[in-house]
Order: sequence, then C-alpha cells, then structure tokens
Amino acid sequence: MGITRAIWDREEDLFITFEGPDGSGKTTQIQLLYQYLRERGYPVYLTREPGGTSIGDQIRAVLHDVRNTEMRPEAEILLYSASRAQLVGQVIRPRLAAGEIVLCDRYAESTLAYQGYGRLLDLPTLRYITAFATGGLRPDLIIYLDLPVEEGLRRRLAAYQAGGAEWNRMDQEEVAFHQRVRAGYLQMAAAEPDRWLVLDAAQPVDVIQERIREAVIARLEKVGGVTEGHNRSRTLDGEIIQEGDGEGRR
Ligand code: TYD
Repeated sequence: MGITRAIWDREEDLFITFEGPDGSGKTTQIQLLYQYLRERGYPVYLTREPGGTSIGDQIRAVLHDVRNTEMRPEAEILLYSASRAQLVGQVIRPRLAAGEIVLCDRYAESTLAYQGYGRLLDLPTLRYITAFATGGLRPDLIIYLDLPVEEGLRRRLAAYQAGGAEWNRMDQEEVAFHQRVRAGYLQMAAAEPDRWLVLDAAQPVDVIQERIREAVIARLEKVGGVTEGHNRSRTLDGEIIQEGDGEGRR
C-alpha cells in the first residue's frame, strides 16, 4: 500500500469505537483491526464495554444477568456509566495520554442508542450523565456496523444455539426495541458524518475490514501518525524505507 508512516513516536492519540446491533459482527471486525495495527507496529489497546476493568467486569455480570428482570432503567444507565467511568479513568485516558491507539467495543453511543432511543429515556439527561462519566471524552471515529434488526437477531440466536454466545437481557427485548436502537444509531451518524463511518454489516467480512482499514489509515494521516519524510519511515507492510532527521507533525 504505497503510504509511508513514521514509527509511532508522537503524542497525538486516536480513540476509535465500534458500535452496532447485536449480531452485526463488530467484535470480529475490531479484533481484525487490532491485529492489523499491531502487526504494523502501532501501539494499540483493545477493550470493551461494559467491562474492561476488574470493577467493570463485576458490573457487567450484574447487567447481563437475565435473572435481573427487576432492574430499573435508571439503575441500568448508572451501571453502564459506572463501568464506563472506571474504564475511561483507569485505562482509556492513560493509554491515550501515552500516545496509544485505543479501540473500544461499544462506548457512550451504546447508552444513547439502547437506553435513549431503545428505552425512550431522556436523551439530554443521558448525554449529561455520559459526559460526567467520561469527563467529556468522545471517540475520534465511531465505526457503526448496520444490519436489519431481524437479520441481527437471527445471527445472535444462531450463535447462542450453537453454544458460542451468551443470551443477555438486551437480546430478550422485543423487535420494536431493536428497531428504535437501529434508528437511533442512524440518526446520530447522520448528525455527525465526520465522526461516524456507517458500514453495511451484510457485506463479506474482508470487504468490511478493508473499508475500516482505509478509514483508520485516513485518521492516522490526519493526526500525524502516517507521514512522508519522517525519520525511520516505513511502509504499512512494515518495511523500513528511510532514515532521516525530519520533523514529525506534532
Ligand atoms: P455484549 O455481550 O457485549 O454484546 P455485543 O457483542 O453485542 O456488544 O452485550 C452488550 C449489551 O449491552 C448489548 O446488548 C448492548 C448493551 N449496552 C447497552 O444497552 N448500553 C450500553 O451503554 C452498553 C455499553 C451496552
């Protein structure tokens, strides 16, 4: 791929999140992107919500337990937000500060989509709680894998029946709930087209991954992680092509 980049020695960070309905394949895609960036020498950290920390994993267990049918929507929001606050403070901010690329499987937009659009809770209140939990940290790029609701639920059910996936409280929701979630995602993406990349999750895995890589490389160029003429530049395939004393884009 003819682009060259500097070995990652800069302070700009890049925070990328993946969103999508259950069954959209975002976990597969985020792992492929993680491996791709790692193989090219970028410091990259992969995490997920809810969870990603010891405290967050304990909260996740409460949130996903299908026995917790009495959970109030307000409690649900605060639990997701508590897990997020811990993850941002303990993991995401320190890693971004160290110049790493952080990839997160779900983030604040899940709360807006599921609790806001899905459960019809007040969006401005959710935005306020989310801003409090994250200290205002927003993703540079949100990759949204879009899939018709029926197809997503069909995939989830098949994965569950094959024994390789859990069936959580959200999966139990009615089709109309998932349709509101999807409409919410599409609305948020339309409102901030520069921040969102919307992809059709029905496409083959490698086609989707290629589009994701293109978008991520474009962001790396924007923050200065891909430069021409910087010292020890190398191709994205890992080959070092020059040693120089050029200034990085800081
Ligand atoms: P998970 O097992 O991580 O599934 P997925 O592979 O789909 O991410 O389950 C996460 C579930 O939690 C998913 O159904 C979406 C839901 N969720 C919310 O409702 N609000 C939130 O803020 C977050 C982070 C997740």
